[in-house]
Amino acid sequence: MKITSLNSNPYRDDEAFDQQFSLRIQKLSKIHWSPLKIIKTAATFLAPQSGSRVIDIGSGVGKFCIAAAHYCPHAEFYGIEQRKNLYQTSKRLKILSGLNNVHFTHGDFTEINLKDYDGIYFFNSFAENLSSNGRIDNSIQYSPSLYNYYANYLYKILEEKPIGTRLVTYHVDENEIPASYRLTDSSFDQKLKLLIKH
Ligand SMILES: C[S@@+](CC[C@H](N)C(=O)[O-])C[C@H]1O[C@@H](n2cnc3c(N)ncnc32)[C@H](O)[C@@H]1O
Repeated sequence: MKITSLNSNPYRDDEAFDQQFSLRIQKLSKIHWSPLKIIKTAATFLAPQSGSRVIDIGSGVGKFCIAAAHYCPHAEFYGIEQRKNLYQTSKRLKILSGLNNVHFTHGDFTEINLKDYDGIYFFNSFAENLSSNGRIDNSIQYSPSLYNYYANYLYKILEEKPIGTRLVTYHVDENEIPASYRLTDSSFDQKLKLLIKH
């Protein structure tokens, strides 16, 4: 997949950022990749101090992590992505961006240790198991039972995280998140929620 830098400032707006991707990836952007305004608000909340470590569960083509690393150079951003082609795109975008505070891994999020992170970003990554509308591709197996498995796994991990853990959800129903995470703020029509574990 070709990545090109056509813009002097890809962080200017979503169109400018997305032009770095192939047409196929650009077309998926509105539904699947976070908008820059969301990323800026989420990253600023998730990385309150120097050295904060933030993970994006299901990092796709890396839009959240790359833009977050640009907006918050004092913090480290990590992405885990199950689809190899999207992971490879994110790696190429990292090189193009020149950013050193962003890191990508290929795999399933259940294979990594989520204890290593202070903040978590979650853009309803498992939803494509429930609806056949607007899926990214047909390269993986989808099923409602897989949705339940992932959602329950994440719920349990979130419950085990220490007090003070920061979580940002985008397009996620509140009953998917343990009640110990208290809402600090919500915006963008309640779609973006900033939460801290108590
Ligand atoms: C809605 S996209 C969000 C992409 C990115 N976080 C962003 O905000 O731009 C969700 C991504 O999660 C990935 N994903 C879904 N389930 C996953 C899992 N179990 N492990 C790793 N990645 C997963 C999908 O392949 C997809 O690329």
